[in-house]
Order: sequence, then C-alpha cells, then structure tokens
Amino acid sequence: MDSESNSMVVMVLVLIGGFTVLFYMLKWSWKCWCGFRVYVLSNFWQVNLKAYGQWAVVTGATSGIGKAYAYELARRGLDIVLVSRSIDKLHAVAKEIEDKHGRQTHIIQTDFTEGHHIYPAIAEALRDLEIGILVNNVGMNYSETLVHFLDIPNPEQRTTHVINCNILSVTQMTTLILPRMVEREKGLIINMSSEAGAQPQPMLSLYSATKIFVTYFSRALNSEYKSRGITVQCVAPFMVSTNMTQHLPPSLLLKSASEFACEALNTVGYSSYTSGCVAHALQHIALSVFFPGWLRLSSYFVKQTEKFALSMQKKVDEMKERSACKQD
Ligand SMILES: NC(=O)c1ccc[n+]([C@@H]2O[C@H](COP(=O)([O-])OP(=O)(O)OC[C@H]3O[C@@H](n4cnc5c(N)ncnc54)[C@H](OP(=O)(O)O)[C@@H]3O)[C@@H](O)[C@H]2O)c1
Repeated sequence: MDSESNSMVVMVLVLIGGFTVLFYMLKWSWKCWCGFRVYVLSNFWQVNLKAYGQWAVVTGATSGIGKAYAYELARRGLDIVLVSRSIDKLHAVAKEIEDKHGRQTHIIQTDFTEGHHIYPAIAEALRDLEIGILVNNVGMNYSETLVHFLDIPNPEQRTTHVINCNILSVTQMTTLILPRMVEREKGLIINMSSEAGAQPQPMLSLYSATKIFVTYFSRALNSEYKSRGITVQCVAPFMVSTNMTQHLPPSLLLKSASEFACEALNTVGYSSYTSGCVAHALQHIALSVFFPGWLRLSSYFVKQTEKFALSMQKKVDEMKERSACKQD
C-alpha cells in the first residue's frame, strides 16, 4: 500500500471512531437529560392529578406502597376508594385519610386471590363514581424469601393465588374502569410492576414473570390509549420497606413507602415507565451493567442467590427476635 492509501485508511478509521464517540456521547447525554427530567425536574413541577377526576381507586391500599399512594393522592386533593382484604385495616386507613386530609373515602373489601367472581361486586361499588385515577398496586409473592419454584409452599393453590392477585386484578380492574375514562377522554392508570420484572429472576420465577406481564401490558396499553387522553404508567421499584420486604429498615437504597409514593407520583406525565425514584433508577442501571441477563441466569448466579437468600433470612429472623424481645 502506498502512503496515500495508508492515510485514506487512517482517515476512514478516524471518522468511524469520531462518529462512534459522538453517537455514544449524544446517546448518554440524552439519557442523562431524560433521567434529570424524570427524577429531578419532576420534584419542582408536577402534573395536577386532580384534573384527571374526583376519585382515585387504589388496590392493596391498607399497607405498604398502596397505602402510601392512597395518602399521597388524598394529600394532593383526590377522594379515595380503598380496595383490600382486611375490613378493620380498611376502616382504619379510611378514617386516617378523612381526618388528616379531609377527603372522602369509600372502602371495598375483597380478596384478589379468589379469581373472576369478585369483579361484578367491585363494578357495582364503583358504578356512580367519577374515577380519574386507578392504581393497580395489589401484588403478592409466594414466600418470605427467595425460593426455588418447587419449594413454593402449597404450590397448586399458591401459584393460582399469585396469578389472580398480580395479573388478573390488573386486567380486570382496567376492564372495569378504562371504558369510562375513554368516554371522558381523561384518566391515569398506574400499574405496579417491579425491578424483578426487568429481567427473568431465578428463585423469584413466577413473581418475576407476573411482573413482566404488568410491564408489557402497561406499555402497550399506554401507546394504544394515549391519543385518547389516557396515561398508563408502569412503576418498577427496587426494594421498598413494607410487609413484603419484612420491613427492612429504610436506607439510601431501600426507600420508605411514603417517600417512594411521593417521588413516584411526581414522575406522572414525565415517564410512562419508571423505577419511581432516582435511587431505584441508579440501582437499575448498576444492575444491568454489572449483572447482565446471561450472568443472572447462570448456575453460578443461582448459587450466589441461594447464599444471599440464606443471609437475608438470617437478618430477618434476627429482626423478628429483636422486636419480640422488645415486646416482652
Ligand atoms: N415492597 C417492595 O420492595 C416492592 C418492590 C417492587 C414491587 N413491589 C410491588 O408493589 C406492590 C405493593 O407491595 P407492598 O410491598 O406494598 O406489599 P404489602 O406491604 O404486602 O401490602 C400489600 C397490600 O395489598 C393488600 N393485599 C394483599 N393481598 C391481597 C389480596 N389477596 N386481596 C386484596 N388485598 C390484598 C394488603 O391488604 P391486607 O393487609 O388487608 O391483606 C396490603 O394492603 C406489589 O404489587 C408488589 O409486587 C413491591
């Protein structure tokens, strides 16, 4: 090769390199800007949630994330329909919301594990209400800790319950409420997925699969109905301190339910798929970089997950022991 063709090759390589660097710089700048909008700007300018309609319906509203959403929505001026299993807790939360925020409440007692037959009664209870917001929050896991599929306690019944609670509730509540939102050309549906649905998670196999259902359903529904005035937002949190996580103490990475609900509601209108808060968004990025899909599905990773499950169980047992000692 003569020196002229050599310099041509070098020039082409420099151009390719330059464009690649520019492409990645633009890509990452765009991602940083989007993250900044969703998790920082959203704390200063929020959508007026009252504009969607008078009532917000929250499933699984008597503890954890659902209760925190119910409180936060009431604080932002909506009347709340609380849907959960335990009547005493429903009355207690409804009273707290009425006393603290001066909003109206309705309660609906139901058990979402029971399947199709519960929905006509829910439809009847919601018939005359102008529902602006539906929060499909209810969800359950099948074990206190991470377990292999065959170690799920009472598997025939438990797996059906998980599917009814995590999947059927989302589709049926949407079927009940979306038509009137479409008529009014206004409405917000928030569906609670999980970081566990972002990738297949060994030792959380069924839970993880139910959550990817929620994610796909929400994202597809959002694009079908956004031109008709409906927003469907999918929220995929990491760990939040609730019953489901054995009330592990909140920290920089593990959010309290009230902080989480407040930050996540701020992101409405900014993103249709969100981790809910900046701490969880950063953990999502870290996890996908350091633990890519192929690694998470490897036998090595499953072994590590087993060890992690054991150490988590120990921590939880210690916490339970400590709180039992305090009560004595
Ligand atoms: N906590 C986390 O770290 C985390 C992370 C990612 C995603 N999520 C998702 O966030 C959602 C809420 O989780 P959470 O941690 O707040 O749960 P939680 O603390 O266990 O609260 C669950 C709520 O749902 C109600 N509920 C449970 N089973 C029910 C049933 N069969 N029928 C009717 N109501 C039922 C409970 O009411 P009763 O008390 O009356 O039974 C309670 O109000 C779930 O979809 C979960 O998958 C949670």
